[in-house]
Amino acid sequence: MKISKVCILGGSGFVGRNLISKLVSKGIQSLVLTRSPPQHKDLQVLPGVQLLAANIFDTKTIVPHLAGCDAFINLVGILNEGSNKQGFKQAHVALVDAVIKACRTAGISRLLHMSALNANQDQGPSRYLFTKGEGENLAHKPSHPHINVTSFCPSVIFGANDSFFNRFADLLTLAPIPFPLACPDTRFAPIYVGDVADAFIHTLTHHDTFGRRFNLCGPRVFTLEALVNYTAQQLGLKRKIVRLNDRASRLQAEILGRMPGQPFSIDNYLSLQVDSVCQHNDLLDLGIAPTDINDIVPLYLGLTQRQQRLSRWRQGG
Ligand SMILES: NC(=O)c1ccc[n+]([C@@H]2O[C@H](COP(=O)([O-])OP(=O)(O)OC[C@H]3O[C@@H](n4cnc5c(N)ncnc54)[C@H](OP(=O)(O)O)[C@@H]3O)[C@@H](O)[C@H]2O)c1
Repeated sequence: MKISKVCILGGSGFVGRNLISKLVSKGIQSLVLTRSPPQHKDLQVLPGVQLLAANIFDTKTIVPHLAGCDAFINLVGILNEGSNKQGFKQAHVALVDAVIKACRTAGISRLLHMSALNANQDQGPSRYLFTKGEGENLAHKPSHPHINVTSFCPSVIFGANDSFFNRFADLLTLAPIPFPLACPDTRFAPIYVGDVADAFIHTLTHHDTFGRRFNLCGPRVFTLEALVNYTAQQLGLKRKIVRLNDRASRLQAEILGRMPGQPFSIDNYLSLQVDSVCQHNDLLDLGIAPTDINDIVPLYLGLTQRQQRLSRWRQGG
């Protein structure tokens, strides 16, 4: 299967940008449908990348743009709904329905779909994980046999401009006081964004990945507390971490969930009730050796935004 051009939803985000730079290096063109092209116009300077404003939920408006696309990649996801109580359903389920209709109408037979580790339509502990599971199942539903779907369920993803290490770095820097940490024992296997992008690129053309769902993890498992301590260490900061018990963790989520931007919400707290680790790391099945945090995180933590961009380009993704 030859892929010359892909249509990407969510291509302007953290994972999308890393994936696009790999697609560029493979000579694959990207059509990025976005809510706001001016906000992401830096992407347009990359060879073969086209940005178009589109209501991605409206199949009729996106189908005419899909001429010449060989595959569809859906990376859209949100961590909080804000005031839109249907936000998760829209972004994680209704959008998948629109994507499948668009693929069907435009005759696109390859779809890569981004889900999340622990996404589960039956037992998802949070609305984020429940709706991610529902969307993933919808993508793999046998009702559209002509669309070959592969989905990806990563643990937390790191890399320059991530919103995990960078967020903790900001919080630790801004608050020179004991740091109250919710759910400190939840375990993660952080995966490098470059490895996630490689997994997408590999599966694009490999028929043996059609219909598969890949759990993606990094090489090591850490508690959240260990990762926050690691972040402080990288920044050269001495911060006492105050481990919040379950009740205090929930209370923190209730309070921060009411603040603008919802830095931590009840739904986030519920997602943290399950460890984000792989029973089996499917990244290895794809022939990709997972990158350790030590090889990447020290290169960007503590750098300015501009330095982060440079570092990202130097890392080749
Ligand atoms: N980052 C992680 O640690 C992690 C871990 C597991 C799974 N994932 C999944 O991986 C995917 C990509 O994550 P990311 O970190 O790259 O996310 P991101 O940086 O927030 O980017 C997501 C993109 O989706 C689009 N988007 C966001 N909200 C939308 C909405 N309500 N309606 C339509 N479009 C919307 C935005 O594109 P425009 O602004 O251009 O429209 C945005 O650039 C998501 O599905 C996420 O759930 C991420």
